[in-house]
Amino acid sequence: MKIKKVGVIGAGAMGSGIAQVSAVAGYDVVVQDVSGDALGRARVSIEKSLDKLVGKEKMTKADRDGALDRIEFTTSLEDACKEADLVVEAVFENLEIKQDMFRTLSELCKKDAILGTNTSALPITEIASVTNRGGNIIGIHFMNPVPLMKGVEIISGQLTSEDTRKTVIDFVKTLGKDPIEAVDFAGFIVSRLLDVLFNETIKLIQEGNTPADIDKAMELCAGHPMGPCRLLDLVGAEIAMHGMETMERDFGAGYKPHPLLKKRVLAGLLGKKTGRGFYEYERSLSL
Ligand SMILES: NC(=O)c1ccc[n+]([C@@H]2O[C@H](COP(=O)([O-])OP(=O)(O)OC[C@H]3O[C@@H](n4cnc5c(N)ncnc54)[C@H](O)[C@@H]3O)[C@@H](O)[C@H]2O)c1
Repeated sequence: MKIKKVGVIGAGAMGSGIAQVSAVAGYDVVVQDVSGDALGRARVSIEKSLDKLVGKEKMTKADRDGALDRIEFTTSLEDACKEADLVVEAVFENLEIKQDMFRTLSELCKKDAILGTNTSALPITEIASVTNRGGNIIGIHFMNPVPLMKGVEIISGQLTSEDTRKTVIDFVKTLGKDPIEAVDFAGFIVSRLLDVLFNETIKLIQEGNTPADIDKAMELCAGHPMGPCRLLDLVGAEIAMHGMETMERDFGAGYKPHPLLKKRVLAGLLGKKTGRGFYEYERSLSL
């Protein structure tokens, strides 16, 4: 199937990045969010990100303008769905919210439209189970920041059709990204490993280590390009907490999110998104 129009549901850190790379690749994009403010921030974030690319001579001004012209912003889910050949859902990491969304998407989207979810950790089969179109549903796990990260995990659920899988792999390649297939269990490959690292990092903090020392240790001694505290600030503490909760549910108590991780989420210390995590940031989604 040919993809021309992409609907992106949720205009947060991930949705805005997915919209940007899709528009740059030449697709018409409609971004939807329940929050008008989130849509406003997404527009500013995309503009700033494209301006940086123009500044670094990685894109011409005409291509920047063309990409922006191809993105529509709306609070109407109907508008985002009605003509979309592919929808990528990037709303909050919560099973009920995602299942509700997929029930609605199944009703609003064209019969042959592909419905992708950018979930970090929730099994695709479980999200798809509330619909009657599991063949068209697939995990498309972009990484943060989307414009910079080359890898995208592709996760087929139990019912995902071969057509859907192939179309999405080709789509991801047209964005200049490299698809990696992962098996449909909680956390897939990337979150399964990273969320455990984040949870252990929280234990190290509680034992008295500083974020600066933990980051320096992992950068200089383990060759990580970015230490886990700075990376968790980029991802958002709530994303790691929800990932651990999903893995605890499916794999047992060894994956229990540390109480300090939960406390930090309750306190709003999510990281870049809220301006404060282990480090301080300007409250902006610009990358
Ligand atoms: N942050 C990361 O590093 C990262 C990486 C990969 C995948 N993900 C996944 O991507 C998804 C989005 O994460 P994020 O970091 O962009 O979150 P975010 O909190 O920055 O954005 C979520 C957006 O969804 C909107 N939203 C919530 N419910 C909605 C609904 N019913 N309809 C329309 N919009 C709705 C919110 O208003 C918000 O703007 C999550 O599933 C997350 O696990 C996140």
